[in-house]
Amino acid sequence: MIGRRHPYHPHLLSMLEAARLARGIHLYYLEKGFTQGTKSGPTDLVTQADRESEEAIKELLLSRFPEAGFLGEEGGSEGDRDVRFIVDPLDGTVNYAHGFPFYGVSLALEAEGVIQAGVIMDTARGETFYALRGEGAYLDGRPIRVTERAELLGSLLATGFPYDVAKDAENLIYFGRALKRGLLVRRPGAAALDLAYVAAGRLEGFWEVKLNPWDVAAGWLLVEEAGGRVTDLEGKPYRLGHRYIVATNGRIHEALLQALLSD
Ligand code: IPD
Ligand code: CA
Ligand code: CA
Repeated sequence: MIGRRHPYHPHLLSMLEAARLARGIHLYYLEKGFTQGTKSGPTDLVTQADRESEEAIKELLLSRFPEAGFLGEEGGSEGDRDVRFIVDPLDGTVNYAHGFPFYGVSLALEAEGVIQAGVIMDTARGETFYALRGEGAYLDGRPIRVTERAELLGSLLATGFPYDVAKDAENLIYFGRALKRGLLVRRPGAAALDLAYVAAGRLEGFWEVKLNPWDVAAGWLLVEEAGGRVTDLEGKPYRLGHRYIVATNGRIHEALLQALLSD
């Protein structure tokens, strides 16, 4: 296991444990059937699996680290602390609700305003991506790196859209520009996994508009620790809460920004 002497290594171990717990809950409800409701609109779903995974993760992490704060998608923010966990208990809920196997759980640890540890588990396949600041990024125990590809055309890219895309259609402009240039773009439906895939060299790049901290906190660290670059749409360093995120292998970064920003 990486970084045994890292100050946040114990947190990483507990986050990995919490991800396994969430996987058990995702799989249980997939098998048993689940109730579901809607949040901001008819396509913005929340299931029993979202709520119960967040409860279980929170209970485990705060019992081990009672001094930490917690920001979760379903429960909001608790404890405004220097050290906090940022959690999406089920990223890709729409995929999950349809049995489309691309969803997972994302957990990050932020300390003094910097993401120190990140875990993203694909709970359908059982793959676990994780990183500790300064210690690299890993998939199931093996180090991962972004790709070396330097050509934008032919690179595999991903993006996603907010649930209110009809009202906030900005990303349709960037999506249209990318497609018109013949770029290869996917819309897998789980932003945390999209970022993990950039880190693991399965995608060259990813961008999205209006994501939340729980969607990106862990993936941001994974991409950087795997040698990639994460910025806003202007190429400025990414900060949690930015409206725009662009994450790439670094080599195609400038070309992708340019392609998204010009007709
Ligand atoms: C969503 C997914 C999706 C992205 C949306 C997110 P959720 O998260 O990450 O890929 O395009 O913007 O809200 O609701 O499934 O946790
Ligand atoms: Ca999400
Ligand atoms: Ca979610």
